[in-house]
Amino acid sequence: MNLHKSIKVVAKRLSAVEGVFRSRRLKILAGEHRTETMHKENGCRYLLDLERVYFNPRLARERNRVASLAAAHSKTEKESVIDMFAGVGSFSIQIAKRAPQSYVTAIDINPAAVKYLRENIKLNAVSNIEAVRGDIKEVHVNFIDRADRIIMNLPKSVYLFLELALRMLKPGGGVIHFYVLESAYEASADKRLDTAIDKAKQKLRTKLKEHEVLWMDAQKVKVYAPYTYIVGIDVAIRE
Ligand SMILES: C[S@@+](CC[C@H](N)C(=O)[O-])C[C@H]1O[C@@H](n2cnc3c(N)ncnc32)[C@H](O)[C@@H]1O
Repeated sequence: MNLHKSIKVVAKRLSAVEGVFRSRRLKILAGEHRTETMHKENGCRYLLDLERVYFNPRLARERNRVASLAAAHSKTEKESVIDMFAGVGSFSIQIAKRAPQSYVTAIDINPAAVKYLRENIKLNAVSNIEAVRGDIKEVHVNFIDRADRIIMNLPKSVYLFLELALRMLKPGGGVIHFYVLESAYEASADKRLDTAIDKAKQKLRTKLKEHEVLWMDAQKVKVYAPYTYIVGIDVAIRE
């Protein structure tokens, strides 16, 4: 704090990301006693409480990539986008801002995340977006056959929700941005990442065997733990 005068709070992680809300416990080490902060990323601002909601600034590049795809696509076709695990709106708001012709539905089960999501919608002056608080297992029934594009950022348990996502895609199909954890303990260091990506793609293909997969594109989003990655898979599906 002596060196960097802009730093107002120093906190230490007391836990990993945990529970349904995917939040973590923190301990304030120095500075102001607060865990609420404002994060600026890719031209958007996010107010959030680091202890009450999930947030990871390391996903900035991925959010930019997905928002670019949505923005490019919305030039020719208005899209209906569903963010199934929206948190404070980190993907949803960037998409809504950059694809103003499209409409985004941002859903989350954590009341604190939805409170910040609603504030962030106002803060970023986006109107083509709605925030929905609820368990996707229940609220998905309101969005059957509605989505052209779905974001599924819940890597630890994403497979539990794939069937719901497929129900929400339009009958003609659409794109899912699917995030999953994959390990490759068996591979040598130079092949580890490629092996993990191939395994993740193969597993998703198997789960989608009743559906027509038009294309699939995958990349590392970040290292999660030794030998384990979060793999992002874009998959275009026709029912
Ligand atoms: C890994 S965080 C991702 C948040 C946000 N998409 C981001 O990238 O910052 C997953 C989010 O899913 C929410 N969540 C977990 N289970 C859910 C469920 N059954 N229905 C709706 N939201 C859920 C959590 O509250 C959490 O905010």
